[in-house]
Amino acid sequence: MTVTSWPPSSMFVCRRLLARSGVLHCDRAARSCRTGGDSMDLGHLRKSYRSDDQAFEESHLASLDPIIQFNSWFQEVMQCPLIAEPNAMCLTTATRDGKPSARMVLLKGFGSDGFRFYTNRESRKGKELETNPFASLLFFWEPLNRQVRIEGSVEKLSEQESETYFHSRPKSSQIGAVVSKQSQVIPGREYLRKKNAELEEEYKDREVPKPPAWGGYIVRPSVIEFWQGQTNRLHDRIVFRRPAGEDMGPYTHQGDGGWVYERLAP
Ligand SMILES: Cc1cc2nc3c(=O)[nH]c(=O)nc-3n(C[C@H](O)[C@H](O)[C@H](O)COP(=O)(O)O)c2cc1C
Repeated sequence: MTVTSWPPSSMFVCRRLLARSGVLHCDRAARSCRTGGDSMDLGHLRKSYRSDDQAFEESHLASLDPIIQFNSWFQEVMQCPLIAEPNAMCLTTATRDGKPSARMVLLKGFGSDGFRFYTNRESRKGKELETNPFASLLFFWEPLNRQVRIEGSVEKLSEQESETYFHSRPKSSQIGAVVSKQSQVIPGREYLRKKNAELEEEYKDREVPKPPAWGGYIVRPSVIEFWQGQTNRLHDRIVFRRPAGEDMGPYTHQGDGGWVYERLAP
């Protein structure tokens, strides 16, 4: 599944999903903030999600294959005009000695082989992935009270796949990728403006070459958790994982495609 085109938005479908999720009834009055001194107390910020009879049960799974289940939620998210970037996700990497760092990136495709994104491989995340090729991905689709957590090992996409995607981007984005030695210290914004203008001129009538450091990664999932928020805080958490050969406990269920799944306490 490649995330390239957007279906026409449907406010109707989104409102139906929102009504089902209880979001349309959230208590906005509770959103004012209390301040005291130099700190802000946000303890009272709380919103209604859904009622218990709208719980996310195992019988509601679109599939026992978590990739198909992810696709089912993703299709719903794509129809929700309140979610401007359904494919925005938080990518967390870590140094070899376990110091984590997180940032948003865009999911550019997913399927049974994994979840794809593109970046500069000499960036901070790229360097961390070089020595510690594991990552977690996090989607939070706030209007639907849904969160998906994905964990897995990371591999580089082929040069050919990276090239193909690079050249499918608008020319201005391609030039931007050449301009930006991502995560390096630069003298100021003017430096970027000047370099951008020079490269626009240089590549006016030519194809922009993909910078050697720019490319894609695929996260091969070993854990995928689907979280559905509930008003009474008895949130639903259904986690799919690749079993490590251990005996299945009484609460572990066989999924499809070699996955097992379990319900976790919220
Ligand atoms: C919504 C959103 C989407 C982003 N998508 C990407 C992306 O697909 N690839 C990328 O390299 N950076 C993307 N960025 C910028 C990153 O968050 C980050 O600033 C950059 O990749 C450098 O991160 P690093 O220094 O930790 O490597 C995005 C930022 C936002 C807010």
